[in-house]
Amino acid sequence: MPGFPALVGRSIFRSSSHALRSTHLTTGVAAAPPLLHRFGSRRALIIQTLSGPVRIERLSDSDSGIIELKLDRPEAKNAIGKEMLRGLQNAIETIGNDSSANVVVVSSSVPKVFCAGADLKERKLMSASEVQQFVNSLRSTFSSLEELSVPTVAVIEGAALGGGLEMALSCDLRVCGEQSTFSLPETGLAIIPGAGGTQRLPRIVGRSAAKELIFTGRRISGKEAVSMGLVNYCVPAGEAHHKALEIARDINQKGPLAIRMAKQAINKGLEVDMPSALDAEEECYEQLLDTQDRLEGLAAFAEKRKPSCAALRCAAPRSCCC
Ligand code: COA
Repeated sequence: MPGFPALVGRSIFRSSSHALRSTHLTTGVAAAPPLLHRFGSRRALIIQTLSGPVRIERLSDSDSGIIELKLDRPEAKNAIGKEMLRGLQNAIETIGNDSSANVVVVSSSVPKVFCAGADLKERKLMSASEVQQFVNSLRSTFSSLEELSVPTVAVIEGAALGGGLEMALSCDLRVCGEQSTFSLPETGLAIIPGAGGTQRLPRIVGRSAAKELIFTGRRISGKEAVSMGLVNYCVPAGEAHHKALEIARDINQKGPLAIRMAKQAINKGLEVDMPSALDAEEECYEQLLDTQDRLEGLAAFAEKRKPSCAALRCAAPRSCCC
């Protein structure tokens, strides 16, 4: 069993300095002035990076801890070429190094498409060894996305095809709009899904359904995707981001360290036999024993109040512990 990160005694609740201001995460490009956005009934200050096909936005105020990763290459429907791949790698690394991150929402800024998969125009110009290198790199990038210690939620409005679907499969949860379409069309191009699709799809929807989708390349709708468990929610078109944010906010209210350990226990446990899986759970639980978060949760229960992150230097009261 691989080792666990040393988290004992380290509170990863947000400090009050994070709660009332917004800061930006860079992906190698300059930051723009703060923009005021409205999400649902709440407002959140956001600082956006200026350009590049992958942007990161960090929400603030009561949404501090939620990070948005946005795909933004409209001219190619977010197809993943070398530049997009570099942007994804930078963004994932930046988020991985940000201890104030609690949950990540992965979405597209391009209407009616999540991601059209690999950049087939760029691919046509590559030699076989360049293709191999690119696909290996894409595979490991999606593994890094999957291995982020915090939960990730993919928001799909429109097409999630090939590598675009593989990216969504690397997230912990998926929410789509009703007009969305999903497909792994690679066999139609005489290749196979090579960025984790042959492995993650059967783990999510079962081997038989995955084989049918991969062998035929059939496009399915959002409704079919939810019925086979490919997505967690299928909502009316245009509402997927709102639903994802609702889920992200729910997660953001919980004990951040507990959420990380829950993700780790589930992911590690699913890859091993049951006794080893239960050992993984034990190790994850042990990481939580000496945390302030756990003590605050117990104190709140005894005092019949909601756990207060104020006690833990967080500005907003929230039901953070259990
Ligand atoms: N690679 C490179 N360019 C792509 C692309 C891809 N995977 N997908 C779309 N584009 C480009 C198109 O070539 C087009 O460029 P052009 O304006 O220079 O002609 C532009 O994006 C717009 O695409 P278009 O097909 O006109 O948009 P649409 O809204 O009608 O359809 C899609 C969008 C995503 C449904 C459609 O483009 C599509 O099916 N793409 C192929 C996806 C695919 O097979 N991916 C699997 C890779 S293994």
